[in-house]
Amino acid sequence: MNKDYLRFKEITEEHLLDFLPDVDSKSMTVYESMKYSLTAGGKRLRPALLLGACEFCNGHVSNSITYACAIEYIHTYSLIHDDLPAMDDDDLRRGIATNHKVFGEAIAILAGDGLLTSAFEAMNKDMLIYFDDPVRLKKRVRASFEIAKGAGCRGMVAGQAADIEAEGKTCSMEMLDYIHINKTADMIIAAVRAGAHLGEAEPETLDRLTDYAENLGLAFQIADDILDVTGQEEEMGKKKGVDAQKNKATYPALYGIERSRQKVSELTDEAIEILSPYYDNAEFFTTLIKDLEDRTK
Ligand code: IPE
Ligand code: IPE
Ligand code: MG
Ligand code: MG
Ligand code: MG
Repeated sequence: MNKDYLRFKEITEEHLLDFLPDVDSKSMTVYESMKYSLTAGGKRLRPALLLGACEFCNGHVSNSITYACAIEYIHTYSLIHDDLPAMDDDDLRRGIATNHKVFGEAIAILAGDGLLTSAFEAMNKDMLIYFDDPVRLKKRVRASFEIAKGAGCRGMVAGQAADIEAEGKTCSMEMLDYIHINKTADMIIAAVRAGAHLGEAEPETLDRLTDYAENLGLAFQIADDILDVTGQEEEMGKKKGVDAQKNKATYPALYGIERSRQKVSELTDEAIEILSPYYDNAEFFTTLIKDLEDRTK
């Protein structure tokens, strides 16, 4: 059991709604729609990684909660949009009906927009508090920059676009890695780097954590692809078999289940090796990726 993970998840959930702006009663529908997807559950992986990286780099978790929640807002927006009929057209997410099934497509799009912009509103509001404290301000600007970069059109958005364009086509191994790194690993790298900046990351630690996060991110999407074939819908809170139905470019489609599992194992071993100089101090990260590997078996 990863006790730190549970602790970070709890902190995130306790504060998750704190950074949503107060809205006018006339905008309640979109606000309810944002809240609907945010509070539906989810593993809270990205905020846990951000808080874990901050603590690993001797930072205070209490200073990083805004950024942890902001990255979860952005991730949740990406899920709402990912499920839209124009994208993956899914009707189950986090164990309940997808956002557009409840609120309609227009409100679901706007809820995604609202979550994305609220994330930056929250981070900017936090930065304004430290306007006259250059050292603390710099850490926060760096964290926000990592998150913007990971989420944007040279990160998650680029990967999502490539994922859609690859549907139904023969996909090269190189292209598949491009999709997975961009659509999934970049947000995971962003979480870890943002957390490290909010702490006191030494350049070598930042490099190692980045390499770990790249491995974790790729392994995470391959595991998601494997579970789409082998997983339990109840456990995942989403429908299985959707990738094959939509002819998605996935690891199991290109390499088969066994080689996909092997790839997850290789990435896991490599990730653990990258953090080996830190011995037991990196247990949060090593246990996390081992648990992920176990889920694919
Ligand atoms: C789902 O992310 C999208 C992928 C990148 C595979 P998660 O599996 O982290 O979803 P939640 O946050 O737990 O719902
Ligand atoms: C989506 O990948 C990754 C995102 C950036 C949201 P998938 O389309 O495989 O995610 P699921 O399976 O719907 O959660
Ligand atoms: Mg998708
Ligand atoms: Mg999807
Ligand atoms: Mg999937």
